Amino acid sequence: MEKIVIANWKSNKNKSEAQHWVETYSKNRLAFDGKVVVAPAFPLLETVSTTIKKTGCNVQLAVQTLSSFPAGSYTGGVSIKNLEGFSPSYAILGHSERRRYFHESDIDVAKQAELALEGGITPVICVDKEYVASQAGMLSDEVKQNCIVAYEPSAAIGSGKSEDVGTVKSVKAQIQNNFGEVPVIYGGSVTEQNIAEYLIVCDGVLVGSASLNVEQFLALLNVLS
Ligand code: PGA
Repeated sequence: MEKIVIANWKSNKNKSEAQHWVETYSKNRLAFDGKVVVAPAFPLLETVSTTIKKTGCNVQLAVQTLSSFPAGSYTGGVSIKNLEGFSPSYAILGHSERRRYFHESDIDVAKQAELALEGGITPVICVDKEYVASQAGMLSDEVKQNCIVAYEPSAAIGSGKSEDVGTVKSVKAQIQNNFGEVPVIYGGSVTEQNIAEYLIVCDGVLVGSASLNVEQFLALLNVLS
């Protein structure tokens, strides 16, 4: 599978910062021949997708979560219907920050993944070791056959303490025992210094902090050239 690098901006950036990121990104020639994806907060989707089109840069869009409900009376929820016209390629689902701060459960993530697929969006389902089996158990075969799984050890996220590469390799095997032959990516303190090692053992990475500054993100991708 083509390697995938997903920039997760989380709740950072305003419109002009988002526009600057895409414009700067687009001016650089990258030798990295995998897929690059950016996941902005919902209110920035318009700016980011317009700037991607305007600059013609080769970046795909992701959302950072989805409502567990379809269109309807669910105040504050962002449904698949609301995303029509933006056509994100991916939805990051069940990130540990969603589980911790917004109390999302394996069942919520399973509902989001079904809705994502119905909307033509590939779910990127985040798991930590302890709930690989429980999360897989909640998903339909269709979701398991059409998702990407991200191994996201919570201790490694935003801490600077990235997971040992050997452990990533063994958790990938654990994930594939439970999900089947899915692509597995890794997220947690990925930097310019360690990205290459992770891409040897898995299919891609999710980058949080090191994706915010566009120059830093480009440096990280250029290691892969
Ligand atoms: P981080 O975030 O790169 O800042 O550790 C990664 C993630 O949340 O996936």
